Amino acid sequence: MQNVLFLSADLDQCAEALTAAACIFPGQTICFSDLAEVSLANVAIVIADIEGATGTDLKTFKSKLDLHPAIERLGLADFSKRKDLVQAKAIGLSNVVDRRSGVDGLINLLRGRFGKYGLPALDTETPEKTAQAVVAGCALLEDASIAAVLNMALPVEAAMTMHKKIGEALNADGLDALLGAVQSHHSHTFCHSMLVTVYAVAFAEALGLSERQKAFISAGALIHDLGKVRIPLSILDKPGKLDPQEMELIRKHPVFGRELIEQHSEVPSEIIKMMVSHHEYLDGSGYPEGLTADQIGPAVRLITICDIYAALTERRSYKESYSPRQAFSVLVEMKGKIDQQLLKQFRPVIFPADVNVPRRVAR
Ligand SMILES: [Fe+2]
Ligand SMILES: [Fe+2]
Repeated sequence: MQNVLFLSADLDQCAEALTAAACIFPGQTICFSDLAEVSLANVAIVIADIEGATGTDLKTFKSKLDLHPAIERLGLADFSKRKDLVQAKAIGLSNVVDRRSGVDGLINLLRGRFGKYGLPALDTETPEKTAQAVVAGCALLEDASIAAVLNMALPVEAAMTMHKKIGEALNADGLDALLGAVQSHHSHTFCHSMLVTVYAVAFAEALGLSERQKAFISAGALIHDLGKVRIPLSILDKPGKLDPQEMELIRKHPVFGRELIEQHSEVPSEIIKMMVSHHEYLDGSGYPEGLTADQIGPAVRLITICDIYAALTERRSYKESYSPRQAFSVLVEMKGKIDQQLLKQFRPVIFPADVNVPRRVAR
């Protein structure tokens, strides 16, 4: 996967577009003053916001980047300042976006460079229906992330048909094929959101829910963590423990999600609830609002179970994943927080073999 290096003179003052791009495209965000110390080994594109950069910053930039001619140099500059445009040219930026023009200029430029960055690199052996469902889900997630950042209409209707594609794949190829294909994705957030969607749809099918309920659940699961588009990938994908400030930012994602879709009347309230409340617990100890059992509906409870189970079992480079049985035990131990009646009904979804084992009849 290509990596982007986002550069700014002052991380607190950098262009809004740079912050937004760093939440969508994989890479690292640093100050010009740290550039000399940073390795450019995996960097394909550098984006420099030259506002406030000193002469020394720009000199260091040019001399370091000249040693890596394969790295593409893009930038942000204030088009009303001639000096900045001259500087942008002098340090070899091949494409410059006006930093005053909002986020869409840079995001669209990067989308052009990355192509469909949301698509997974699927194994050639991946069964057809599974591949179709995973590709469709990932493409939708990419569209939803971009729409959220650019404040465009979210692809809600398409997300509400995902259960059909996932249902077809489950019937044709089974749950394990889908889980394997989803986990090939390079982005942890895409992988996680698709895992939750696969479990949620399989669970909804097992519960015999109506088409309408399944449609809400598939869309709600797919975009439940959409608020994470406001969190830099360097934090979301951090290989290690998060510090308290980073943790606090991550815990804001349900509220970010609500802020992002508040302006979108096209999103049904059932879906908004799943997005905002999937970290709430029945005993009131969850977040962001500390809701209690009577305020948490069945669809949200279902998403919470699938979300925790997915998070525990998914593979991350820096941590061991829980086995399905270990993860299920964690959920069982969360009595008081998780709907245990519903959890019992989740068991046959993830351990179908258990159901087929004939029980010994008591004499
Ligand atoms: Fe979440
Ligand atoms: Fe999640």
